[in-house]
Amino acid sequence: MQQYCIAPSILSADFARLGEDITKVLASGADMIHFDVMDYHYVPNLTIGPVVCQSIRNYGINALIDVHLMVEPVDDIIPDFVKAGANIISFHPEASHDIYRSLQLIKSLGCQAGLVFNPATSLSYLEYVIDKIDIILLMSVNPGFSGQSFILSTLEKLRQARKLIYDSKRNIRLAVDGGIKINNIGAIAIAGADTFIAGSAIFDHMDYKYIINQMRYEIAIAKENNKIIK
Ligand code: DX5
Ligand code: ZN
Repeated sequence: MQQYCIAPSILSADFARLGEDITKVLASGADMIHFDVMDYHYVPNLTIGPVVCQSIRNYGINALIDVHLMVEPVDDIIPDFVKAGANIISFHPEASHDIYRSLQLIKSLGCQAGLVFNPATSLSYLEYVIDKIDIILLMSVNPGFSGQSFILSTLEKLRQARKLIYDSKRNIRLAVDGGIKINNIGAIAIAGADTFIAGSAIFDHMDYKYIINQMRYEIAIAKENNKIIK
């Protein structure tokens, strides 16, 4: 995987032409596919499940599929997503009866495991499980819908999460999800993110390649300027 990873959220894709739209966004330079699962219970919206994940695989998509579970409870659906072709499975700690068990289940089935933190959720959930985690995902909007504005306090939380990763000496990706656009992605990268989940910024634009290239350019420029200032 690239050092900086752009992961389009297919919540904003055209569901009537999902296979084509995913093929197009991957051909435009996306690194992996972010797959939002909502149950109308943990979050006030209802989206897609393992059947759609399997259909994407059957269509011939080989890219990494990053499943973001916004469901409660968590564990029962994990094996279904593994069978359906998921590579990374992340869940919200508040939605699991036993975080350790859910992480172990994901890992035992051969997937990478992640914890997702809502804007008001403390990073303290990481304290005893950081050695089980492959990805930390910070929500920069309240989960449930695409097209919301980036919550600025995420930048400070990113710096804190980056420090926890550094102290753990582990190779953990730090992802941000929600409200990422060309005009804020640089600041998000400087705050410590390496994985950028974006839905509407990419899929609501005619030219996916242009947006993804611009995102990479903004990250590179911000990082370079940050080096010079330091
Ligand atoms: C929100 C989802 C996000 C969402 C991002 O609950 O987890 O992945 O699709 O969409 P944008 O980039 O439009 O905020
Ligand atoms: Zn998501």
